[in-house]
Amino acid sequence: MIQQSVAEIVDHREIAPGYRRMVLESPVDYTAARPGQFVMLGGVGGGAFLRRPFSIHRLEIESQDRARVALLYKIVGAATAAMGKLTPGVRLDLLGPLGQGFRVREDYRRIFIAAGGIGVAPMMHLLEDLAQTRALDACEVFLGGRTSHDLLCIDDFERLAVKVHRTTDDGSDGAQCFLTHPLEIAAQQRPPDIIYGCGPMDMLSCVAGIATRLGLPCQVSIEAAMACGMGACLGCAVADRAGDGYLHVCKDGPVFDADQLRW
Ligand SMILES: Cc1cc2nc3c(=O)[nH]c(=O)nc-3n(C[C@H](O)[C@H](O)[C@H](O)COP(=O)(O)OP(=O)(O)OC[C@H]3O[C@@H](n4cnc5c(N)ncnc54)[C@H](O)[C@@H]3O)c2cc1C
Ligand code: FES
Repeated sequence: MIQQSVAEIVDHREIAPGYRRMVLESPVDYTAARPGQFVMLGGVGGGAFLRRPFSIHRLEIESQDRARVALLYKIVGAATAAMGKLTPGVRLDLLGPLGQGFRVREDYRRIFIAAGGIGVAPMMHLLEDLAQTRALDACEVFLGGRTSHDLLCIDDFERLAVKVHRTTDDGSDGAQCFLTHPLEIAAQQRPPDIIYGCGPMDMLSCVAGIATRLGLPCQVSIEAAMACGMGACLGCAVADRAGDGYLHVCKDGPVFDADQLRW
C-alpha cells in the first residue's frame, strides 16, 4: 500500500565522485516493497518543490515489519545537489512504495542483468531478493559506465558472488565498449531465462533489440519526468508499442516488458 511518511536519514555517504547512498528510516512498513519499485522524496530543499523519484536500491531488514530504505543517487541538478548536503538526523517526506517492479518467475535461474550508470540502483535490491530463493551462480551482471568512477556497487556484486562484466566508454575499467557488446555475445552463447535492464534509454533500446533478435524475455525499468508518482498528473506518459495508446511510467511501470514499449 502506498503511504506517505516522515523518514529520517540514518546514513548518508559518498560512494564515488558524484554518487551518494542515503539510508532512510520510515515508520511505514517497506518490507514487502518489490525490486524495481520506487519512492518519491520531498522536502530536500535547494528550491526543489516537487518530490523526486528514486528507485529502492536496497532494503535493510530490521524486523518483521521494519526495513530501512537505501537510495543510490547521482547528483545531476537542484534536488540531488541539495540532497547531497543533508546529514543524518534530517527528516524528509517519503511517498512509497510506488509502481510495478520486476516480475520474477520461480524457474528463472540463468538471469542476465544489464545496468548502465546509475541504472544499477534497483538491481541490488533485485539481486538480494533473488538470492532469497535461488543460487546466483548462473546470474551475470553487465555493468557499463562512462569511466571507472561510474561503475558502482562492484563490492556488493562480489559479496553476492555474481559474475560481473565491466565496460567503460573510455576503457578506464574493463572492456572499452558498451555493455551491450558482451551482453549480446553471452546471450548468444548461453541464452538466459530473462534479461533485466535499467539505464539510459539508448542502452535499453539496444538491450530490447538483442532480446527480440534472440527471442528472449526482457524487462526494463525506464525513467520519465514525474510530478505526482501516482497516476494523477499524467505527466509521465510514454507511447505503447502499437502507438495508439499511452502507458504511465509511475503506475504501469517503471518496469515494463520490453515488447510493451515503442522504442
Ligand atoms: C522511476 C524512477 C526512478 C529513478 N531512480 C533513480 C535512482 O535510483 N537514482 C538516481 O540518481 N536517479 C533516479 N532517477 C532519476 C532522478 O529522479 C532524477 O535524477 C532527479 O529527479 C533529478 O532531480 P534534480 O532536481 O537533481 O535534477 P533536475 O534539475 O530535475 O535535472 C537535472 C538534469 O537531469 C535530467 N533528469 C532529471 N530527471 C530525469 C529523469 N527522470 N530521467 C532522465 N533525466 C533526468 C534533466 O533533464 C536535467 O538534464 C529515477 C527516475 C525515475 C523516473
Ligand atoms: S507522475 Fe503523475 S501520472 Fe505519472
